[in-house]
Amino acid sequence: MSKRTTSITIILLAATILFIAALHYLTPVNSIVLHQVYQRIYYIPIILAAFWYGLRGGLAAATFAALSYLPHILLHWQHQNYEYALNQYAELSLFFVIGAVTGWLGDQKRREHDRAERINLELQKAYSDLRQTVGQLLQSERLSSLAEIASGVVHEVRNPLSAIKGAVEILEKDIPLESPRREFAQIAKAEVERINKLVTEFLKFARPPVLSKSPICVNDLLDSTIQLLELQAAKADVKMIREFAPDLPEVDIDAEQIKQVLLNLGINAIEAMPTGGTITFRSRSEGQTIAIDVGDTGSGIPPEILDRIFDPFLTTKEKGSGLGLSVAQRIVAQHEGTLIAERRPSGTRFTITLG
Ligand SMILES: Nc1ncnc2c1ncn2[C@@H]1O[C@H](COP(=O)(O)OP(=O)(O)O)[C@@H](O)[C@H]1O
Ligand SMILES: [Mg+2]
Repeated sequence: MSKRTTSITIILLAATILFIAALHYLTPVNSIVLHQVYQRIYYIPIILAAFWYGLRGGLAAATFAALSYLPHILLHWQHQNYEYALNQYAELSLFFVIGAVTGWLGDQKRREHDRAERINLELQKAYSDLRQTVGQLLQSERLSSLAEIASGVVHEVRNPLSAIKGAVEILEKDIPLESPRREFAQIAKAEVERINKLVTEFLKFARPPVLSKSPICVNDLLDSTIQLLELQAAKADVKMIREFAPDLPEVDIDAEQIKQVLLNLGINAIEAMPTGGTITFRSRSEGQTIAIDVGDTGSGIPPEILDRIFDPFLTTKEKGSGLGLSVAQRIVAQHEGTLIAERRPSGTRFTITLG
């Protein structure tokens, strides 16, 4: 009940009690049947108060009812009909008994209800944790079988690729310099290079490297990532902003791997802002952990893919591999950290927590 409804209900209950008391005082003393009826009506506000406000409510209503009725007994019955007065006193005690018992039952019911609600919440949480764990298990199961297939396939693909590249280079030599067919050789070499890059990225994804950790200042790592991204950002008219917390404690991480994560996030951010914008790199400490935000003012993640964004091979880009975020998430998970994506009013924010 809101505060407002509580006060209104209490006022209504008190008014009912006063109304019943008024009936007693206004009805002639010899209409005993009417008085008896009024007395019974007192139980309605008492039971309601007890039901709504528990033991205290029940006792308060009983006290108020007794106080409002007591003068009537003292004034009228005490002298005229002592036996009836005694009866009335007993009735007043019953007010308290009924108020207390109903209130106690109400309290009991409320406690049960609260307990059931708590258990329900705990169950809901356990269920969502379980779903998350099962999801992670399935994902790692998928990944480990993928890793085996991948490394085999990658080696099989790489060998013929270097053979093709060599053959194209030899063929190219026989083509006169001014011939337009030279362009085909260039295309062939560029495409071979692209497949090679994709396959290498895939291998990186399928067989994560063993971490080599050391204490690192996250701000320095962010600085060197920003430097690496500078050229690509400038081309896309993207401004990079540093919002670093001073005096961050060092964290034990594999700097190269986390830099890879930051690069993947940075490149995605630049790609999400083809007509320019800003990327904010923010570092902050949260108790024992360190958080890094990479926020952009770009197109935003389409809502329909938000919950699949870390899935391998999910891409909305014509030449995307869909591996950047899954590699990033894998590396962060290897560090026992978390990586989450959020849609913001203008753009996207990824948050890494480490430590
Ligand atoms: N900063 C971002 N803003 C908007 N969409 C994003 C962002 N980062 C990632 N995405 C979406 O997530 C998809 C997967 O990203 P990723 O795994 O890096 O693969 P890729 O970049 O090769 O597509 C992207 O294709 C894009 O749709
Ligand atoms: Mg990417």
